[in-house]
Amino acid sequence: MAQEDLFKKLVAHCKEYGFVFQSSEIYDGLAAVYDYGQYGVELKNNIKKYWWDSLVLLHENVVGLDSAIFMHPTIWKASGHVDAFNDPLIDNKDSKKRYRADVLIEEQMAKYEGKINKEVEKARKRFGDTFDEDQFRATNPRVLANQEKLDALHGRFVKALNDSDLDELRQIIVDQEIACPVSGSRNWTNVRQFNLMFSTDMGSTSESSNKIYLRPETAQGIFVNYLNVQKSGRMKIPFGIAQIGKAFRNEIVARQFIFRMREFEQMEMQFFVPPGTELEWFEHWKQHRMKWHRTLGFGDDMYRFHDHDKLAHYANAATDIEFKFPFGFKEVEGIHSRTDFDLESHQEYSGKKLQYFDPETNKNYVPYVVETSIGVDRMFLQIISAAYTEETLKKEDGSTDSRVVMKLPSALAPVKLAVFPLTKKDGLPEKARTILNEMKFEFNCQYEEKDSIGKRYRRQDAIGTPYCITVDHQTLEDDTVTIRYRDTMEQERVNITSLLQIIKEKVNMSNLLRQL
Ligand code: GAP
Repeated sequence: MAQEDLFKKLVAHCKEYGFVFQSSEIYDGLAAVYDYGQYGVELKNNIKKYWWDSLVLLHENVVGLDSAIFMHPTIWKASGHVDAFNDPLIDNKDSKKRYRADVLIEEQMAKYEGKINKEVEKARKRFGDTFDEDQFRATNPRVLANQEKLDALHGRFVKALNDSDLDELRQIIVDQEIACPVSGSRNWTNVRQFNLMFSTDMGSTSESSNKIYLRPETAQGIFVNYLNVQKSGRMKIPFGIAQIGKAFRNEIVARQFIFRMREFEQMEMQFFVPPGTELEWFEHWKQHRMKWHRTLGFGDDMYRFHDHDKLAHYANAATDIEFKFPFGFKEVEGIHSRTDFDLESHQEYSGKKLQYFDPETNKNYVPYVVETSIGVDRMFLQIISAAYTEETLKKEDGSTDSRVVMKLPSALAPVKLAVFPLTKKDGLPEKARTILNEMKFEFNCQYEEKDSIGKRYRRQDAIGTPYCITVDHQTLEDDTVTIRYRDTMEQERVNITSLLQIIKEKVNMSNLLRQL
């Protein structure tokens, strides 16, 4: 199936099965804002727990924080967001559509890359086992021509970004003959900067009101509290502060479902280190975060690092962890070595000392910071796109059937166990409820008695429930039930007394955490 079709089906599936709804749908929706339904919120909570526990539970020197969304407006001046948190935008005069100039150019570079990869794949098929990819890339004239164009474009693009040269960005779009995907025309406006922060007024009267911002990242709440946490927790450097919370950005190009939203949630950790050690810690957290992703078991080749061409105003090293979404490799998480930029700047703007006293060296210094920053919603999209599977099943009579199954890691699944009485009579529902009442204290369970067992399995497959048990007449005789496994669809008869332990072991978050 084409990846585009797959993505459309995934979006429809999310709505049909209560994972994600368009915000304000009955009023025709609000662009790039989404609500999480009954299963979505469970999955989202489990993702957050996996992240939180992997940092706060497993590291003695990482602690949590929950800072407010509203902050003193000067914070955003100090952080550079008022002056520099901009996207370069360009309008097409015919379609009146607005685009990010950098995204248009990146898509053009991806086209060259696509052409090269196509040649490589064609050759791989032609030459079979004897194919030497490195040699082919180094000698094939079509590959070389496209690589040359790509390198030239890349060099020009990076320079324009680093110089913040908006005229040059426009010129690249013109020279590359990039057309508006809607109108097909190349009738472009100039490129302008557009600040992404939302603002509102705080205060009851117009005279006393103050313009404040909805935070565009949770990180600043950590920076301005770092000494509070350090002193009250008697933390020694190196140490980290982790936070999960909402962030807001007035994105120009908001598309691809929950990939780019205007209201979203971030999971960020700032790790405070002695100056001069930041690049070592950057490498450490880079590897640790990649392992966190790969532990979910969707396949190592689904992830890659992408080092930044243009470093943000606060960074001396930066990389993204990218995931292979149905629409290509895209950023899920950013890891930045943010130097002492933020703390120094807050020191300057607030007039308060933000130095750490190191008891071992008897010296004061402003720590350097390594940040890991991941979007909960983007992680959610990563997981559901990797988990969504359509299967054709062969039945015993030779005919075929199909099912949609969300192959979610058990620890993240919204519902861990579904309990079915085979029929609605003979005391089976009562027995099933007794079992459920025992299990519900340990994990999320669901009771279902409507429709055939087959239909009930399909519904649970669609929401990713890893285990279903059926209570039948034999249960009343010998206290055994059948347990059915989502991915293999195999069934096994087990004693009720061992059920709790069996499921608990399989769905425990520690199964993931122990692999880190
Ligand atoms: N404090 C650093 C920071 O905010 P970022 O790369 O701008 O860095 C970090 O954002 C992560 O937040 C991204 O990797 C992405 O997962 C998520 N994110 C950023 N903008 C988003 C948006 N508009 N919608 C959903 N997630 C977003």
